[in-house]
Amino acid sequence: MRKILLTITTIMSLTAAAQAPQLSKDNIDDVLKAMTLEEKATLLVGGEYDFWAPVAVAGGSSKTVPGAAGSTVAIPRLGIPETILTDGPAGVRIDAHRTGTDKTYYATGFPVGTCLASTWNTDLANRVGRAIGNETKELNCDVILGPGVNIHRNPLCGRNFEYYSEDPLLTGKIAAAYINGVQSEGAGVSIKHFAVNSQETNRQFVDERVSQRAAREIYLRGFEIAVRESQPWTVMSSYNLINGVFAQANKDLLTDILRNDWGFQGIVMTDWCAKREQAGLYTKDEVMAGNDLMEPGGKDQIADIIDAVNTGKLPIEAVDVCVRRMLEYIVRTPHFNKYKASDAPDLKAHAAVTRETAAEGMVLLKNNGVLPLGNGKDMPQTVALFGTGSYNFLSGGVGSGCVHTPYIVDLVEGLGNVGIKTTADLTDIYRKYIDYAKLKFEADRSFARWFEAPALGDQKMPEIEISDICLMKQVSQSDAAIVTISRQAGEGIDRKIDGEFGLTELERNMIQRVSTAYHAEGKPVIVVINSGSVIETTSWSSYPDAILVAWQPGEEGGNSVVDILTGKVCPSGRLTMTWPLAAADHPSTKNFPQDIDLFVYETIKTGGAPLTTRDYTNHEEDIWVGYRYFDTKQKEVAYPFGYGLSYTTFSIGKPTVKKVGDKVTVTVTVKNTGSVAGKEVAQVYVTAPAEKLVKPAKELKAFAKTRTLQPGETQTLTMQLAVRDLASFDEGNSQWLAEAGTYTFQVGKNIEDICASATLKLTEYKEPVSNVLAPKAELKLMK
Ligand code: BGC
Repeated sequence: MRKILLTITTIMSLTAAAQAPQLSKDNIDDVLKAMTLEEKATLLVGGEYDFWAPVAVAGGSSKTVPGAAGSTVAIPRLGIPETILTDGPAGVRIDAHRTGTDKTYYATGFPVGTCLASTWNTDLANRVGRAIGNETKELNCDVILGPGVNIHRNPLCGRNFEYYSEDPLLTGKIAAAYINGVQSEGAGVSIKHFAVNSQETNRQFVDERVSQRAAREIYLRGFEIAVRESQPWTVMSSYNLINGVFAQANKDLLTDILRNDWGFQGIVMTDWCAKREQAGLYTKDEVMAGNDLMEPGGKDQIADIIDAVNTGKLPIEAVDVCVRRMLEYIVRTPHFNKYKASDAPDLKAHAAVTRETAAEGMVLLKNNGVLPLGNGKDMPQTVALFGTGSYNFLSGGVGSGCVHTPYIVDLVEGLGNVGIKTTADLTDIYRKYIDYAKLKFEADRSFARWFEAPALGDQKMPEIEISDICLMKQVSQSDAAIVTISRQAGEGIDRKIDGEFGLTELERNMIQRVSTAYHAEGKPVIVVINSGSVIETTSWSSYPDAILVAWQPGEEGGNSVVDILTGKVCPSGRLTMTWPLAAADHPSTKNFPQDIDLFVYETIKTGGAPLTTRDYTNHEEDIWVGYRYFDTKQKEVAYPFGYGLSYTTFSIGKPTVKKVGDKVTVTVTVKNTGSVAGKEVAQVYVTAPAEKLVKPAKELKAFAKTRTLQPGETQTLTMQLAVRDLASFDEGNSQWLAEAGTYTFQVGKNIEDICASATLKLTEYKEPVSNVLAPKAELKLMK
């Protein structure tokens, strides 16, 4: 009898398995119904259960794609495949080598976020996105963990290089273009880190306290634009708390704002932290808040979900909402759609994209006429290269955002490619020193700073002093000098003012000594800034003849720099953040961590009274971030927002501004009035009526870049915005409010250089939204 029963049960379960629906785009409901609680919980927890094993430090632990950051778990019974998540954002970060094969798995290193955004060119950002989307799927992954769109609240943030700007409109537009590019290839993105992740110090546990207005208008607005204009497949919730609640368990943020106010359709995944119950963050709360996927995933999180449902602490309906969204995500992925990855993306074609984009993102800060080199006539034959960065050129930042590129073009190679030699002895000295310095670095490495792991990006090597005799030899042997000032930064640690934002004595002396020696012989000196973020320039910018911000421009960096220096490309990059005279000029600096030496994963267990900028950070500067502060309060800066020189000149005509329905159209004509071909960016700053709400003096509301204009050529640019884009956040009434009155549309070359303007009268616009995310206690806000 028992045997018969057993057989019946076996037949029944076999039949059930045979009948289990196999996931397709049209049967998500059936699959959801057929899932057991364990299967549901499994789908909400990433598959990298051993992520914290040492291999993770060397760059992730995915078994399917070594080096990829994470995955979602397969449930074969229901035809649900594994999907693979890879960093991001400047290219695919997977291991270039695998055991048991000589085959390499390189990915293209594209320009970092600041460089990409400095192009102000949404078409280029879209092309970069397409190339990255293509590499994501060709390298057997489904989602790239980017773009990073946090606002540059302060120049000291260690991850600013991955982000775009201090301005949310520019951030949102570049992000949307990138995302549309990636997703047009059939791969997904994870826009990150949602939200207010403005510092790296104690990033896992810091409480970012911010007003509702600053949150909506500054820190969330870039995400909002990107969500509305590109529907990212996934959003990554950040590690930090916002006004006392972890972003990952923040229903205000993940449901009320993201989904209800903005209409987000995709999934939310956590940043890579697994469980943090010791800090009061429970998996069930994350599910309840609308966080669909826990990354990198821990088996105990599956058990937590099952247990919470079984004990009535987590309604199954909340689980089902997340599971349904996971299934909707999975049916879009390359793995679900059985895409045959080649493991061989077109690295050559993509190298051309990165070279062009990087050159277009570089910003010329100063030029007393020495550039382009030789002005087309006497191209220098030999150049002396000073600074370790000239030889150990940094193509990207460190941490999860690094890319294992097939090569990096340094300045020696870049110049060599156009027939310009570098002085042999100096090149030899630096090359040998860098080999030594790298060996020494390896030997001294303690791994206390986890991002110094070799798999997580190239490090800057300390500078050396060049003797007077050697310097004089260079002057006599070369036609020009280039001094490279490089900076490295990355996740987990913020930058210091001294020696990181600022120059070291050695660096400043190097610029000064080289300038004096070369100028004595009438020879030019150019400084190349190889840094993903802002540095101090005030104390030394008078010495050299020209200064080029090359950022961390990707694997073709040396070629892109030389394209600009030789005039092959006319510079058209514009700053996406203010370069202050001093770091302390930013009002946020007083509430930004400095000299808090905290290991990235150190927890709140630090004990004692909560410490400002470590355990909590008050955003007292409120909306007065970047140019909104400097321009409104008329504070002098080194280089203003939107600034960048060209080799030609442009005139910008009077704009026409029209309102049709709820849209405003700005039309403006740009003319190349100089003698070489080039591109210009028309930047539209709006001054709005401010009867009810205090407003910044001007805010960027639209921008457009011309095509390459020949001398004498004109182009008419048409930009469109919605009336709601002119609104500010009115906390008192929890609404977006554009006051009735006269709006002045000023078109300029940067925020301080306005060329022409036009006005438009508007009636009041109001848009009520969820009244959420309020600070727990009053903040002392700057007025
Ligand atoms: C970073 C994310 C990254 C993730 C996976 C985290 O530490 O903050 O930006 O995508 O790791 O590597």
